[in-house]
Amino acid sequence: MIKNIAIFASGDGSNTQNIIDYFKASKNIKVALVGSNKSTANVLNRAKNAEIPTLVINKASFYDTQEVIDLLRSANIDLIVLAGFLWMIPESLVNAFPDKIINIHPSLLPKYGGKGMYGMHVHKAVIDAKEKESGITIHYVNEHYDQGAIISQHICHVTENDSCDTLAEKIHQLEYENFPKAIEKLLSEK
Ligand code: GRF
Repeated sequence: MIKNIAIFASGDGSNTQNIIDYFKASKNIKVALVGSNKSTANVLNRAKNAEIPTLVINKASFYDTQEVIDLLRSANIDLIVLAGFLWMIPESLVNAFPDKIINIHPSLLPKYGGKGMYGMHVHKAVIDAKEKESGITIHYVNEHYDQGAIISQHICHVTENDSCDTLAEKIHQLEYENFPKAIEKLLSEK
């Protein structure tokens, strides 16, 4: 039985590309849809190049209608993967897909999470606080930013020589190494 993934992203989509590549040869897991709130996001180009259907998510329809939920259901989506998606998930979508929406966050939650904490903002806060370690958190999504149950965390060291860019690179490596495997493990359990 094929398990279908929908990925939501707002930016470049390097994690989305990594997930697409990881499951390209899979016989039982498929990236069935890539959605973005930005029609110009590079993540949509990555999906098109991989011949994966795309969706530009409109704010009003996302928050005020069942349209996106209906579309996900008609596509038989088993897991919604947020990979740098900057909008809050509406409660209606969380309730329609209980324990079927996951997110990756570039810090060791609950530290450095919440509204506005994304991308370089996170790495700058970690470095400014002289943290000795950082990492990624893969977690279920509820209607509050970055507050769902944690699935797994992966740690990297931070040294006084690290810049936001070098820390971002360490974090991206952790994401590429661990996110697809976490998705595969979750879908094998469902
Ligand atoms: C990643 O760092 C992820 O942790 C965060 O958003 C970023 C997405 O990067 N949620 P990309 O668009 O996958 O390159």
